[in-house]
Amino acid sequence: MAQNTRRGMTYRRLRQNPWIRELTEEIRVSQKQLIQPAFVVEGISKRETIAGLTGVHRETPESLLKQIEKDLEAGVHKFLLFGVPGKKAEKNFNFDFTASQIAALKKEFGKDIWISVDVCLCSHTSHGHCGILSHEGDHIENGSSVEELARAGLAYAQAGADCVAPSDMMDGRIGAIREKLDQAGLDSTLLMSYSAKFHSKFYGPFRNAADSAPKSSIKDRASYQIDPARPSDALLSSLRDSEEGADILMVKPALAYLDVVRAARDRFDLPIAVYNVSGEYSMIKAAALNGWIDEERAVHEMLVSFARAGANIVITYFAKEYAARSR
Ligand code: PBG
Repeated sequence: MAQNTRRGMTYRRLRQNPWIRELTEEIRVSQKQLIQPAFVVEGISKRETIAGLTGVHRETPESLLKQIEKDLEAGVHKFLLFGVPGKKAEKNFNFDFTASQIAALKKEFGKDIWISVDVCLCSHTSHGHCGILSHEGDHIENGSSVEELARAGLAYAQAGADCVAPSDMMDGRIGAIREKLDQAGLDSTLLMSYSAKFHSKFYGPFRNAADSAPKSSIKDRASYQIDPARPSDALLSSLRDSEEGADILMVKPALAYLDVVRAARDRFDLPIAVYNVSGEYSMIKAAALNGWIDEERAVHEMLVSFARAGANIVITYFAKEYAARSR
């Protein structure tokens, strides 16, 4: 080998043209792995753009149907729906708006689409937290929040969601939702847990989309989301959620947490999803719009990195553009 190296090529033989490079790829990304997030907002008369999420909109119920139809034509069939109700409250939330949107999508597109639905309270609460604020306003209650979340999960499943995906990070919500689904005989509804969801600054643009920035005296979500410096918490929480009945585990955000994706892949035999979040999307989009980066190649490279770390499923705002290019 040493002599060979001195004379000429060794490893470069397998890099010399696109054909041999294609043949030797170990990681192949497919648009089949991707889920496209979508937002539908109650009480707006026209679809709205979202700061930081160029190309994605806050849809009205009517424009949502049109956008999904376009996405289906582009080859996207899997969605993660976020319903944003017009009325905010402190407790006893009303989940009818999102449930009605799920039912409308299923009625319109039937078996052509697969819908997972985000289950959280942050778009419902007047203060923007993912759970119920205590009477004193000093903490987010766990038990009462879980009861509401379980009610939401059941309502969305009954409306026809293929999968419900709790993103709130309360303890015990997976078990509570699974129990409700079982009681209702909904044993084919999937549960995708945001099991390793970190307390991240990369959710910024999303909060413009979903009315969900925290506005109380508790300024952030650090008391319920996972500390970026505690990967063991992510693994413990994922183990717990798998035992409580999650079908799919998730790591979120994606790019800065690929070590956690790899660890989860090695430890669990359930499918692993990553959420390529709004802030990650906005970084690439902004650079591309400025002409500083080749978006198409950068997105592909990023998707390869998720697959290399062991993710099976990728939730990404790039899904529709990626699918359109794959045709
Ligand atoms: C709601 C929720 C958030 C995201 C998904 N579900 C925001 C948050 O926890 O603050 C973030 C998604 C994104 O940034 O794309 N709890």
